[in-house]
Amino acid sequence: YGDYNQKIDYVFKVVLIGDSAVGKTQLLARFARNAFNVDSKATIGVEFQTKTLIIDNKTVKAQIWDTAGQERYRAVTSAYYRGAVGAMLVYDMTKRQSFDHMARWLEELRGHADKNIVIMLIGNKCDLASLRAVPTEDAEEFAQRENLFFMETSALESTNVETCFLTILTEIY
Ligand code: GTP
Repeated sequence: YGDYNQKIDYVFKVVLIGDSAVGKTQLLARFARNAFNVDSKATIGVEFQTKTLIIDNKTVKAQIWDTAGQERYRAVTSAYYRGAVGAMLVYDMTKRQSFDHMARWLEELRGHADKNIVIMLIGNKCDLASLRAVPTEDAEEFAQRENLFFMETSALESTNVETCFLTILTEIY
């Protein structure tokens, strides 16, 4: 089954951004292949995966792009954002700094992407509740101020991963 002989009604490009090690690659692996890798290596350059889903009786092919959070491994920025209709701004809820950097990532995103892009703020690693360094309310406040959707996820435990991708894809649609 899968993509064979399937008529695709829409292709949506969604980009993942955020600091290194917040879990962008594992969120994508969980969504696209229902997989998780504890020894996930830093992404070098750009990778993407696709998943085809049905939304409102239409076949939607989600093309999710993942790039390095580390500056030295990042590829050409403008090419990465080109054509993106959705973006996921990911921080690690156990690392305050990764949340504090969201404003900068958002600025880069808004500087390069289409102005109608749908953006979701994602606090990943909610399975590590005892190590939480970013209160939910802080993130909610930032999301509200910047007009972003917001969700807390765990790629490890699969919490809200499907939901956040479906929410953004449905919103784009
Ligand atoms: P770069 O490619 O460097 O930008 O990093 P990244 O944001 O893609 O992070 P990656 O997905 O490689 O994950 C970094 C580390 O966090 C790995 O050790 C993952 O196993 C771990 N990790 C990712 N998601 C979760 C999660 O939801 N919970 C926990 N506990 N660990 C996670």
